[in-house]
Amino acid sequence: MPAKVIVVYESKYGNAKLVAETIAEGMGQVEGVETVTSEVKAVDLKKIVDYDAILVGSPTHIGGPTGGIKKFIGKLGKLPLEGKSFAAFATYLVDKSFEQATKKLEKRISDKVPGAKLAATGLSIRVAGMKGPISEGELPKCKEFGSRIATQLKA
Ligand SMILES: Cc1cc2nc3c(=O)[nH]c(=O)nc-3n(C[C@H](O)[C@H](O)[C@H](O)COP(=O)(O)O)c2cc1C
Repeated sequence: MPAKVIVVYESKYGNAKLVAETIAEGMGQVEGVETVTSEVKAVDLKKIVDYDAILVGSPTHIGGPTGGIKKFIGKLGKLPLEGKSFAAFATYLVDKSFEQATKKLEKRISDKVPGAKLAATGLSIRVAGMKGPISEGELPKCKEFGSRIATQLKA
């Protein structure tokens, strides 16, 4: 049976979306792992339990994840997700926000979802301006992050 992964994101200008898609592309390099990406608003909560791993990503808004993503994690807390793997990612613009939203996402997942396992330390990806683009050298990190988590899931 293939390992199933869903990469859930919110994205105002498309940068976190591109990060999600590039993570999924990296995961696609590993045989036996099936990955889908979904905008948070389109997620069917009833199907979430079908996935072995749930990746959650957001742009940094005022030093943290978006409201939509925070709400989504709250809803995950009501589902039977013990033992599932999780990982977080975020895009950010200014130095001081490096890892801010990612760490908050990880904390929220650990606090709200009983028995969640963090599959990897979260990924923070820099954008060059408010609306992007993603800074040079950042996209390969997304691909590597995806393939590393996928390899781990198959192990
Ligand atoms: C309301 C708002 C608040 C923001 N606050 C921060 C912030 O605190 N730190 C930061 O680095 N970037 C901040 N930004 C910039 C976003 O991080 C940037 O627009 C985002 O990473 C781009 O990703 P997206 O295209 O997926 O929306 C903010 C942007 C908006 C719209």
